[in-house]
Amino acid sequence: AAPFTILGIESSCDDTAAAVVHIPGKGSAQILASVVYGQDGLHAPFGGVVPEIAARAHAEKLDICVAEALAQSGKTLGQMDAIAVTAGPGLIGGVLSGVMCAKGLAAGSGLPLVGVNHLAGHALTPSLTDQLDYPYLMLLVSGGHCQFLIVHGAEEFTRLGGTIDDAPGEAFDKTARILGLGQPGGPAVEREAQAGDAARFALPRPLLDRPGCDMSFSGLKTAVLRARDHLIAEQGGLTRQDRADLCAGFQAAVCDVLTEKTRRALAIYMEEQPTKPALAVAGGVAANQAIRAGLETVSTEFEARFTAPPLALCTDNAAMIAYAGAERFAAGHLDDMTLAARPRWPL
Ligand code: KG4
Ligand code: ZN
Repeated sequence: AAPFTILGIESSCDDTAAAVVHIPGKGSAQILASVVYGQDGLHAPFGGVVPEIAARAHAEKLDICVAEALAQSGKTLGQMDAIAVTAGPGLIGGVLSGVMCAKGLAAGSGLPLVGVNHLAGHALTPSLTDQLDYPYLMLLVSGGHCQFLIVHGAEEFTRLGGTIDDAPGEAFDKTARILGLGQPGGPAVEREAQAGDAARFALPRPLLDRPGCDMSFSGLKTAVLRARDHLIAEQGGLTRQDRADLCAGFQAAVCDVLTEKTRRALAIYMEEQPTKPALAVAGGVAANQAIRAGLETVSTEFEARFTAPPLALCTDNAAMIAYAGAERFAAGHLDDMTLAARPRWPL
């Protein structure tokens, strides 16, 4: 394939992002620019992402973000070969902002438009750093998602299972809130857990007793809430050590569930791919050292290669959207001005 340069746009949750990715030829990719404007500060007072605030912030920031990405890449819009945009799944207001921005740019420049599934973007992230042979197993663990995918190709995925309620990142965030720690909760809980005794509180490992790869994390968060309320009733409040022990216990439970379910997913995947298996992880929760170590241990058990993209590519970004868009373009899957925002869009 000829060299290809593509602008990517992402606005499906609480990050406004634009990126320019260059594909010199098949099997390689260069990120020329990747700009991400987070909205943490805007949502922090509300203890969670507020859709209306997110949509307005995206609408305000998208143009700036695109201009910055183009400037950093040293290219003009006219030098792009296509424009890729997240068309779902996600918060409808944010996705709409991104899709409208991309349509405006496409209409003005005459460039082709490609709508991308946000989950496909995450699932293809390893291609931005080290090319993995298909099929590989992907564990996507973020604030909004949690699923196992066998990635057969750029547009071919098999879902093996996922969370039936909260995503792990969401559970980390809620646990942090319950314990009075800051947001985002993942890093805060991980920090506290370092000084904690994971065995002090008996927290549940939901769905571990059931076959399959489905997971559940909402009961775990409720168990932390109950343990906290019990401590408050008994001793009037929580000590620093109580907090550390609860964080350690919570993290260990998430880790146990993720590693055991990964073991099962790897077993299913390896029936199809017995030689040179690979496990990749993406999503913000992949930043957690304990979880990463657990996944690495399971990979070693199965003699599977383990890869985790750099954190900036694990969390929401537009480089992954640009890359997934380039793959769709290469397959001839173009969109036009009728491209719709899809709040729900399973892979
Ligand atoms: O991928 P991401 O940016 O996606 C979403 O927007 O969903 O992931 C953010 C999530 C947050 O829930 C955050 O608490 C979690 O990833 N996270 C972590 C860690 N760092 C971020 N969870 C556990 N341990 C961490 N070190
Ligand atoms: Zn995401």
